[in-house]
Amino acid sequence: YTVDWDASAAEKGGWDSFMDKEIHEDPAAVQRTLLGRLNKDGDLNLDEVHIDEHDFKAVDKIIVIACGTASYAGMVAKYAIEHWVRIPVEVELAHEFRYRDPILTPRTLVVAISQSGETMDTLMALRHAREQGSKVLAICNTQGASIPRESDAVLYTHAGPEVAVASTKAFVAQITAAYLLGLYLAQVKGAMFRDEIHQVLDSLKQMPAKIQWVIDTQTATIAEAAKRMVDAKSFLFLGRHVGYPVALEGALKLKEIAYTFTEGFAAGELKHGPIALVDEGEPVVFIVPPERGRNVLHAKVISGIEEVKARGAFIIAVAEEGDPDVERYADVVFWRPKAPTLMSPLVDVVPLQLFAMDMANLKGYDVDKPRNLAKSVTVE
Ligand code: G6P
Repeated sequence: YTVDWDASAAEKGGWDSFMDKEIHEDPAAVQRTLLGRLNKDGDLNLDEVHIDEHDFKAVDKIIVIACGTASYAGMVAKYAIEHWVRIPVEVELAHEFRYRDPILTPRTLVVAISQSGETMDTLMALRHAREQGSKVLAICNTQGASIPRESDAVLYTHAGPEVAVASTKAFVAQITAAYLLGLYLAQVKGAMFRDEIHQVLDSLKQMPAKIQWVIDTQTATIAEAAKRMVDAKSFLFLGRHVGYPVALEGALKLKEIAYTFTEGFAAGELKHGPIALVDEGEPVVFIVPPERGRNVLHAKVISGIEEVKARGAFIIAVAEEGDPDVERYADVVFWRPKAPTLMSPLVDVVPLQLFAMDMANLKGYDVDKPRNLAKSVTVE
């Protein structure tokens, strides 16, 4: 008599895959990363980071170094931090940064973002930055890994262990942590009023519930869309502003685990090249910014949708609940609840994670262990 006990199934806690489990932990990943970082007056307290306030005040430029998904989290943060702190933020793939001659000064804060904390490309880049006299702050999900150990400071994401090779909950946690860093810089540099910072923090705190809403209400639509699209040979992903890195991340997820040829573009580039790829039935995924106020970007993205639609594209949109323009043109919509533009990436990426997982499952692939890829790449 033997008991069939599968250790890995037990760890998955009833989910079909680690990826499935980890996507469902997106809300908790954001929530836990926020936890304990506000003092009783609602101000940010990042003492744990161990960088002197004077050094923080002196920072006049940020360079984010990272690879893959982590680099897209950095790109999202660039939009927010430049807006809040009014200092330039560059985002560079660690392997590119390392082998050019980057301009670094003691006032440059280099932010190394890494889920595993062991990515060799990122580690080499951070060593290079420190040799040039810059301070390095790691945003990392793994306690005591090489990248945080070799950095001057660390802000941990508390997404919990991520097992599936394709990163999901770590991404939303990285955005959250980078936002906290940006707001903290705004606080110490006096770049924003206290009330403004509190307001942003309030909207950040509301994001776990909004992500949960997407999971609860959109899963069936997403599964249905995957069934319809499973034979598609390629996908284009388009977004503007913070929707641009979300498009890149959505494209990466689908290529990583469903082995579908995907390309992510800034939607404004459409007429400068990508539109040539659009043919009858070509699936194009648009990340549509919120419509409120006079958000000029919303109108621009909608006109992009019209253009590809006129050429016969099949439109999948990620858009704000009830957006009438999207209703009009899109073939499939993954809805998000209302959220400020800078917060929208935290929700918009979730349906794209689920969509990639559904596509891979339908094709019969192992979503947790895609071919040719490793969870942490410890060689250059
Ligand atoms: C690998 C993984 C990706 C990940 C990237 C960066 O390529 O397959 O999912 O985004 O490394 O990993 P890190 O651990 O540094 O965030």
